[in-house]
Amino acid sequence: MNFASDNVYGVDPRILAAMVAANEGTARSYSYDNLTEAARARLAQVFEHQVAVHLVTTGTAANGLALSAATPPYGAVICHAEAHIAVDECNAPELFTGGAKLIGIHGRGGKITPAEVEGVLKGFIRGEHDPKPACLSITNASEAGTVYRPAEVKALADLVHAHGMKLHMDGARFANALASLGCSPAELTWQAGVDIMSFGGTKNGGMMLEAVVIFDATLAREFNYRQMRGGQLVSKSRFLAAQMLAYLENDLWLDNARTANGLAQRLAQGLARVKGVRIGHAVEANEVFAVLPRAAHEAWQKAGAVYYDWLPDGLEQKPGPDEVFARFVLSHATPEDAVHRFLALTKK
Ligand SMILES: Cc1ncc(COP(=O)(O)O)c(C=O)c1O
Repeated sequence: MNFASDNVYGVDPRILAAMVAANEGTARSYSYDNLTEAARARLAQVFEHQVAVHLVTTGTAANGLALSAATPPYGAVICHAEAHIAVDECNAPELFTGGAKLIGIHGRGGKITPAEVEGVLKGFIRGEHDPKPACLSITNASEAGTVYRPAEVKALADLVHAHGMKLHMDGARFANALASLGCSPAELTWQAGVDIMSFGGTKNGGMMLEAVVIFDATLAREFNYRQMRGGQLVSKSRFLAAQMLAYLENDLWLDNARTANGLAQRLAQGLARVKGVRIGHAVEANEVFAVLPRAAHEAWQKAGAVYYDWLPDGLEQKPGPDEVFARFVLSHATPEDAVHRFLALTKK
């Protein structure tokens, strides 16, 4: 009954098999191999757009490198106050950008609105005495398990573009957002105004399956220098590429995301029926946030359920003293039986 994160599970066997198959013979190094070329072409097909693709090993590196291309060292990155880049990456974005400032917005349900961004931008009135607003970073699916629709992304993009800023999307759970919305990768990204994204697959079946995907060609200039300086130009890049190709083949990425999202729905529906439990944020991807009675929570954890306490940021009704706010993350590899056993436990 492990719902701690979607990265506690292993690698999808089809992705692992592709890595093993890539192990035959020799290949050019540092991303000049045939598989990396094929992965780039495949992503261009998936996004229906010319894209620059840089395969990296972690989502943190993808975010830091992408932000460094979109933000000068004296710039500001606006993001959600609970965004992974703001609270989980040990200042990697500040390091990679060479000192840019992150400005957090406490938006509802893990999301931020154009009005909130506009409110922040109004504060930048002192020219070079403030950092230069350079980039807005949104996470889709968000850290609260909610999703931005294409129209919401477009409204944010239109606003920041009007201010000469770029739009970055942290897509560590991009497949979950897509599977939830049923729209195309193009509709949720460049067609809605996304300039650069971190395209993640590690949480959805990969081993080190992360990429920076660049839609705005001006941001792609000399990116390979950033990647090398950041220690992310992998010499045996064929193994990263093999993962990406397998991930995208026959919609494996979307199938896995649909499975994870479906399990999240099942868990949320079951939990919502338990006396004293309140579902926190809308369950739109593969995460469930819920306020739980503390005594029940302690009993469930004692019985072997694994999940984290979470900060109730952006929650309308905060947990009381006898309650905890918890996060449950579902993966394509979460055994269905784990969900059933947990829900049986909650009925006791
Ligand atoms: C929204 C989001 N972005 C980025 C990351 C970073 O991924 P990694 O752990 O591979 O650095 C995570 C991982 O938890 C995440 O949840």
